[in-house]
Amino acid sequence: DKGNHRHFMLKEIYEQPTVVGQTLSSYIDPLNLRIVLQDLCFDPKTISRVTLIACGTSYYAAMVAKYWIEHYAHIPVDVDIASEFRYRAPVLSQGGLAVFISQSGETADTLAALRHCKQAGQTVAAIVNVPESTMAREADMVFPIHAGPEIGVASTKAFTCQLSVLAALAIGFGVLRKTIDRSLEATLVQALSEVPSRMAEVLHHDEKLRDIAADLANARDVLYLGRGTDYPIALEGALKLKEISYIHAEGYAAGELKHGPIALIDQAVPIVVIAPMGPLFEKTVSNMEEAIARGGKVILMSCKDGLKNHSDMAMASIELPQVHPMATPLLYALPVQLLAYHTAVHKGTDVDQPRNLAKSVTVE
Ligand code: M6R
Repeated sequence: DKGNHRHFMLKEIYEQPTVVGQTLSSYIDPLNLRIVLQDLCFDPKTISRVTLIACGTSYYAAMVAKYWIEHYAHIPVDVDIASEFRYRAPVLSQGGLAVFISQSGETADTLAALRHCKQAGQTVAAIVNVPESTMAREADMVFPIHAGPEIGVASTKAFTCQLSVLAALAIGFGVLRKTIDRSLEATLVQALSEVPSRMAEVLHHDEKLRDIAADLANARDVLYLGRGTDYPIALEGALKLKEISYIHAEGYAAGELKHGPIALIDQAVPIVVIAPMGPLFEKTVSNMEEAIARGGKVILMSCKDGLKNHSDMAMASIELPQVHPMATPLLYALPVQLLAYHTAVHKGTDVDQPRNLAKSVTVE
């Protein structure tokens, strides 16, 4: 049932404040500002390496988690696309934890990689939405994301719920490994617990994003730029746009712009810049200025302080709430989802059932 929404995708975008709240409630204790993890079948203190494996949007969640786990838990992390991992000769560390991220829990390549890691003696964890899925059954340990059924082929709420679980795991591992003290744990848990209400604020920009999308619908190519944990959000924004509007889009790490893609830039290529306030803000802005100097038309997503001196140079801007850096990928996922959604609606494509795509890819 789509409720009063025109598409499942829109309904699922709008569900995010609620479902992310539900997900977080099983991983955090908001009163005492602590992470609560179920009994783990491994000891985060002795894990030698974490290998995160997934496909598509779930892979982008893994990319975000790499930054978090390295930063907060000081564990080396590898991220891999399942279809690449399984046909390589990956060298797995003894005492390694392999984590498989999948909405469906059935994606063939991810499942094959899971079986490979299990056979190779890794501790295997699955972060899934479907609790009775094959991956959930075969893993040593399951972390459910509690997003509820996701019908739209383009993943939205599963992504932000995956990020919520991964954030809790990164903090939880850090606490157990003592790389995070009690006060940092409290700060981070507080930041996460505010995400649902901040997401609800972000959804108020729906109409503005619809207006921007009317322009975007005329583009042939669109670039998305971000740094740090917002680089995977740039990739995710580009994937969403490709999947449902069929407009060619690329996500880049903003610092890579001058190593090639800057050659593409002219007035006809809109550039979505994801630039929350934080340690990387100035760096991202200087990449944006390089693009503007070449005639690039920028759609800038930042917070009030970020937009203060920079919104004039952008073609359009979206003001998001100012939050802790750990919360930015969760929040900035929403405007890129909405931008793709409205662009597709504008073009009249089949949003919930895009051509050539299946919800669950059970062939290799
Ligand atoms: O069910 P999974 O999370 O394993 O699916 C992985 C990808 O097939 C999936 O994320 C796909 O990229 C979506 N269409 C993205 O919107």
